[in-house]
Amino acid sequence: MVPHRLAIVDRIARLRGDRDAMLRREAALMSSWSEVVGRRFGDGAPLSEGADDNDFLRRVLSRKTVRRYSDRIPAEELLDRLVACALSASAKSDFQQASILRVRDQQKRAAIGELFPSMPWIGAAPAFFIFLGDARRLQRIGEIRGKPVRNGTLEGFFNASIDAALAMQTMILCAESVGLGVCPISVIRNEIDKVAAVLGLPDLVFPVAGLCLGYPEGEGHVSLRLPRTLTTHADRYDDSALGLAIDDYDRRRHALHAIPREQQRSNAEFGEAEFYGWSEDKARQAAKAEGAAFPPYLRSHGFTFD
Ligand SMILES: Cc1cc2nc3c(=O)[nH]c(=O)nc-3n(C[C@H](O)[C@H](O)[C@H](O)COP(=O)(O)O)c2cc1C
Repeated sequence: MVPHRLAIVDRIARLRGDRDAMLRREAALMSSWSEVVGRRFGDGAPLSEGADDNDFLRRVLSRKTVRRYSDRIPAEELLDRLVACALSASAKSDFQQASILRVRDQQKRAAIGELFPSMPWIGAAPAFFIFLGDARRLQRIGEIRGKPVRNGTLEGFFNASIDAALAMQTMILCAESVGLGVCPISVIRNEIDKVAAVLGLPDLVFPVAGLCLGYPEGEGHVSLRLPRTLTTHADRYDDSALGLAIDDYDRRRHALHAIPREQQRSNAEFGEAEFYGWSEDKARQAAKAEGAAFPPYLRSHGFTFD
């Protein structure tokens, strides 16, 4: 077949794939509440059939991180709108300490992507945003108004982090509601000096996370969450059932999506596990703490945390 006809056949196959994926997503939206909640938690807790139907809630319950994107490019108008939605998130004390930086320059994208070869979606996603905790703006406003503000405190850091996280999550849910898929990227903090240099970040401004965004390619799966008996409490905190509940969760999650033997972490240190569930994986991951470069970066860029 001549090359341009091959390209057309390829494009049609891709469009069919897009449409089939969309139809499967729509079909998932037609599931009963008990199916949707059951798929998310599988914890046998009481199900919620009675309340009014609502598409957005269904989508949230079925949401999943997307790391592979089709080559369909999201429209600029849509991206603008999503940024506006993100900046409509609640903000602590109305201080508005989130900033959003879109990395459009291909060289900068590549420079950041190359720092994380194990996560090729960082360089490849159709759009890439960085959600910044911005403790600088409020301090500058204090200067402009002649009222000294010291915003490098723990309170300033915490408030700016939360504002940025809320803005990012608002963009995530809005993007997913219009059929886009996203992946937050906090690994950029592991190379904070280099990332900050590429983006020209001043003191008191730091990345909370990046966000890859595009139209999903492939299906992915809804990730099973911890049972609500562990993550919800009534009137008094109680985690006395943790051990048994985690064993049960590990087994249920393993039955749905077992972690392949070759993906066991740090075997040299911890040995190969016969049964390798979520909790073993997360304990091994957390024992090898990441992000050692972040605290010294913050301390040398305006934060005192007092
Ligand atoms: C703050 C934050 C940072 C994350 N950082 C990364 C990252 O650096 N790389 C990545 O591939 N996924 C990252 N993720 C995605 C998580 O791995 C994902 O949300 C988690 O596995 C649960 O999957 P789900 O969102 O599909 O339920 C991040 C998620 C959050 C909320």
